[in-house]
Amino acid sequence: MSALTREAVLAALATVEDPAFHKPMLELGTLLEVVVENESVRASVRLSAPSDELQMTIRERIHSALKPLGVDQVILEWDLQVPTRDVGQEDPIPQVRNVVLVMSGKGGVGKSTTAVNLTLALKRAGARVGLLDADIYGPSIPTMLGIQGFPSSEDGKTIEPLERFGVKLMSIGFLMEDPKAAIVWRGPMLHGALQQFLQDVRWGELDYLIVDLPPGTGDVALSLAQKMKVTGAVIVTTPQEVALQDVYKGVSMCEKLNVPVLGVVENMSFFIDSAGVKHYLFGEGGGQRIAEFAKAPLLGQIPLEPKVREWGDNGTPVVQAVPQSDAAQAFTRIADSLTEIIAKRHFERRGGEKAPSTSGPRRLKIVR
Ligand SMILES: Nc1ncnc2c1ncn2[C@@H]1O[C@H](COP(=O)(O)OP(=O)(O)OP(=O)(O)O)[C@@H](O)[C@H]1O
Ligand SMILES: [Mg+2]
Repeated sequence: MSALTREAVLAALATVEDPAFHKPMLELGTLLEVVVENESVRASVRLSAPSDELQMTIRERIHSALKPLGVDQVILEWDLQVPTRDVGQEDPIPQVRNVVLVMSGKGGVGKSTTAVNLTLALKRAGARVGLLDADIYGPSIPTMLGIQGFPSSEDGKTIEPLERFGVKLMSIGFLMEDPKAAIVWRGPMLHGALQQFLQDVRWGELDYLIVDLPPGTGDVALSLAQKMKVTGAVIVTTPQEVALQDVYKGVSMCEKLNVPVLGVVENMSFFIDSAGVKHYLFGEGGGQRIAEFAKAPLLGQIPLEPKVREWGDNGTPVVQAVPQSDAAQAFTRIADSLTEIIAKRHFERRGGEKAPSTSGPRRLKIVR
């Protein structure tokens, strides 16, 4: 058989489309450093989202493009370069590439559960992540992540975020002597506290900052959206009709604040019994209806699983504690889709010419 030439390899690879951006990867610059040695090919892939599925699709496409050439071995190296939102002069956290609000309008639907599990799924996929508990009325993050303690400050001006499972964390719960005490926030105080949580906390460089919002009126969302360009919101709902009215209000609030809805998560969608049968305890279709109303995709459905609550109460979210469970897998798939949606939005926003690129790609380390 004739020797493998670089020209032949490049010609074959030229047909490989980036599954996120639907253009040839070589053209976009998401497939690079192609080296041909004997019968093997080495190349780097630049991922714009730490998504398992994206990675698998790209691997398959490259393999099947090269197969007809009789390539023995394909060695791929993966870089992660998450695109960034627009950062203005006044932005309090310019090093944070994406800010994602987890919200609902409705209480008790699983916003905090979704926020912590998405955060950990992103971390495990190789992203740099922070979690801001913006529920200043009833912070849940300290309990759900089993962490307490007062954040330190070396210079008396900036605050070092706490860290757990490799994720940077900030919550009003860390600053309260008695976490059960109620705080009455007046507008300017609320604004000031949030400003401090963003500007004064040393978040460092992050791919995603996930923000867990309180239920209800939207004053926190408003305050955040006024301070910076937010990448978008994830709306959490449960399937039943009575929950939906408040969730619609949450979606409308996003529209008013000019915060794009990235997708909808339906939580407590069904219960799977020991025989594997699904029971739709709270009815069906709520998530889909909200998604249609928001003109955004339904990112996924999370089963009602006692483990979710138990591990949440124990300070290790289910994604970290039992990654193979149905609920953890659902959260992980949602995190994958979310990162792809974010990358696509940035790509489209920039006119879709080249893959969104920012400085310093990092070699991807995946823990799952
Ligand atoms: N899929 C699930 N399976 C089982 N329990 C769940 C699930 N999702 C959430 N829970 C439990 O339901 C309760 C409410 O969830 P969570 O605190 O995340 O809701 P929330 O929307 O943040 O509430 P709030 O409006 O008070 O902030 C928690 O005890 C949580 O552990
Ligand atoms: Mg909550």
